Amino acid sequence: MDNGLGLTPPMGWNSWNRFACNIQEDLIKDTVQAAKSLGLDRLGYVYINLDDCWQKSRNKYGYIVEDKKAFPSGIPALAEYIHDQGMKFGLYSDAGLFTCQKRPGSLKYEAQDAATYKEWKIDYLKYDNCWSTLEPVQHRYQTMHDALNKTGHSIFFSMCEWGVQDPATWAPSIGNSWRTTGDINPTWKSWTSILDANDKWWQQAGPGGWNDPDMLEVDNGRMTFAEQKAHFTMWCLIKAPLLLGMDLRKISKAGLEIISNEGLIQWNQDTLGVQGHRVYQEKVESTAVSPSSSPLLRQRRLDGSMVQTITESESELEGGGGDGLIEVWAGPLANGNYAVVLFNRGRKPHSITADWKDIGLPSAQAMKATDVWKKQSIGTFASNYTAMVEPHDVIAIQLEPAFLE
Ligand code: GLA
Repeated sequence: MDNGLGLTPPMGWNSWNRFACNIQEDLIKDTVQAAKSLGLDRLGYVYINLDDCWQKSRNKYGYIVEDKKAFPSGIPALAEYIHDQGMKFGLYSDAGLFTCQKRPGSLKYEAQDAATYKEWKIDYLKYDNCWSTLEPVQHRYQTMHDALNKTGHSIFFSMCEWGVQDPATWAPSIGNSWRTTGDINPTWKSWTSILDANDKWWQQAGPGGWNDPDMLEVDNGRMTFAEQKAHFTMWCLIKAPLLLGMDLRKISKAGLEIISNEGLIQWNQDTLGVQGHRVYQEKVESTAVSPSSSPLLRQRRLDGSMVQTITESESELEGGGGDGLIEVWAGPLANGNYAVVLFNRGRKPHSITADWKDIGLPSAQAMKATDVWKKQSIGTFASNYTAMVEPHDVIAIQLEPAFLE
């Protein structure tokens, strides 16, 4: 969508993944304060987005009315609060009769709602696709696109049409991002299958319009540290919107460490805007592995301390999308740099090789490599780079052309 917004993927926080309909004014204000005191706004996480359930009814003139019990000061006052804190504010609505939680939708109220968002100075609209009518999805999203444009107020338009009718083929002219799949859960299986489904559309993404594989589940659920680190790494590489979904008031040290990786955020926010994609895949394990083959009971954080104890039966290593595969994912960055991820989807450690020819680099090209998680340079390589990768984990490498002195 050519509204000057979304030149890089949006970054912020959304209420749904952790709080669903249990949202209210104090939670949102506390979240804003937590984001600021954790320094997340300085890292680029600036959107604070309310998902479903902030709205309750329409008044007799048709204007949308917030849930006054949950938001006693009103949405405009909350918008002012968030803007005063230097952050941006997003709302949620639906291109049907109701939202997914049966609150009023925007169908037939598009112009009126767009005018309200302008008056309230809303910066971001997530637009869902529940309770739709027979009117084609493209039309219903186009109607809101036109209504938003007509107000002259800039608003990031996030289409949540759940990947129906191959959105990447038609959505880029309508929205700033479009969901390519159904909803994410905080499990390895969920995000890895979404990653796979989203990949085929990598060429449709670019400045102004992004594939949306749904919001982050770091610090939610029971994933291991490595699995959460892999999830964040891949979302950065594939230029996904980085919308945090945890309780920021109680974020774990490990969760904060993961989402604060500046090298990866730079990949996501790179000005070239090319979505990284899978360039190599190999099946290295049969899927029928006994669950005892890889008990990951405890994990070491990058600073060496131990994090959450996971019993074998609770571990997500029990199964998942792409079981037993090793992969290389990569994409170009500005200034001739490349982002490369060695991704082990198996249950044992494996050696993985990123070959220059798969990445699209001339074999003879010498590249300086930096490990983006260890935050250290690891030498200069030509033709390929090989490393051992732990199960359900990644190694993230940035390659930079090395020129002979
Ligand atoms: C849909 C969306 C979710 C969330 C819920 C809210 O399921 O895909 O991201 O917005 O609706 O009801």
